[in-house]
Formats: sequence, C-alpha cells, structure tokens
Amino acid sequence: PARLAILLSGRGSNMLAMAREVREGVLQSVAEVAVVFSNIPEALGLQAAQELGFATASIDSRGRKRTEFDADVVALLQQYQPDYVVLAGYMRILSPTFIRAFAGRILNIHPADTHQHQGLHAYEWAWENRLPETKITVHLVDEGLDTGPVLAQAPVDLRGADSLGEVERRGLAVEHRFYADTLARFISGQLQPQVASTSSHP
Ligand code: GAR
Repeated sequence: PARLAILLSGRGSNMLAMAREVREGVLQSVAEVAVVFSNIPEALGLQAAQELGFATASIDSRGRKRTEFDADVVALLQQYQPDYVVLAGYMRILSPTFIRAFAGRILNIHPADTHQHQGLHAYEWAWENRLPETKITVHLVDEGLDTGPVLAQAPVDLRGADSLGEVERRGLAVEHRFYADTLARFISGQLQPQVASTSSHP
C-alpha cells in the first residue's frame, strides 16, 4: 500500500475521515497511514491520531523561519518514507524546498473552487455571497496559495442553507468522502492534474 503522511493544524476531521477509509473504505489495502504530523503540537487532530494508534509527530512552527522550519519537517517526514503527503487542514504555505522534496505527490483539499477563492475562510466567503452552490477542490500543491493543478472538484448544494454552520456542515460532509475517493483514484492513475486555463502565470 501507498504510504501517507497526513499533515494538519487543527481539528483533524479530514484526517479522521481519511483514516476511516484506510481502515475500512476506498483506501483499504490501497494506502496506509505512515505518520500524522502537525505544526501545532497541541492540535486536536494530532491527539485524535494518537488515540487511533497512528505514529504522530510535531514540530512547532511558531516563531520559525519558513525555509528552516520546512527543512526540518522534510527531514522528519522522510524518515517515514511517504509516497504521498496529504494536507488536511494544514494551514501553511509550503516552501520550494518542501515542494521539491515531494514533487507531484503533495495533495491538498480546499473548501472552495480554487479558481474563485484561495486561502482561508472559504465557507464564510460562500455564505456571505449566498452562493447556491460551492465546490470542494482537491489539488496538487505548488508554491502558490491554492494555485496547484486541480485533480477533482465536487459540488456542494447550498440552496436553503440558513447559516454559516449549515454551509460548513454540508461542505465538510462532502470533503470527508471526496478526499479519500480522489486520493484513491489518483493513486490508481485514473486522474490527470488539470492546469487552470485561466492561469495568471505568464
Ligand atoms: C477543512 O474545511 C479544510 O478543507 C480547510 O480547513 C478545514 C480543516 O478542517 N482547509 C483550508 O481552508 C485550506 N486552505 P479539519 O481540520 O477538520 O480537517
């Protein structure tokens, strides 16, 4: 099975969903969790991973220079020999050193269409604009903020949603099945990354 390094900064609901699919779902015998890593040692998701019996590791990113911190993370992750680095609410932009170390093998889930909204607060953005539908994007990670080639997108029906909480609840439900599904298809070679036709790169 493909070895996954799952990186998170907070709650870890996407990590938990991925772990469930590894144990008894679409990723069973396709992937295994090599390590769960956090840049926040006290992240709830890291505790949850520990309780599930996964190898866990953390390095506190606070007060660190990005390139130096990322070099430490790369060295640590390499000890676990991951085939894929799976960002699951990992709230950091990766340095070029990190990207090169795992080129083409770093995935992220973003709770919006990355062509329309990048960065934080994507559900707030959908809610405040009263979108009838938003999208969940799984993409390969490059050096930009949510600019990497899209692997797949899934719609979230927001019609009738009457609060930000409801928007998030509907979105997360889609995230939790879609991330593992997309990873399974990527590992099996069924997905080719789509580079945005609207790319602003010259
Ligand atoms: C998820 O909604 C994820 O898509 C989002 O953070 C949340 C993490 O929740 N990621 C981003 O916004 C990345 N730009 P979780 O810790 O419960 O998985």
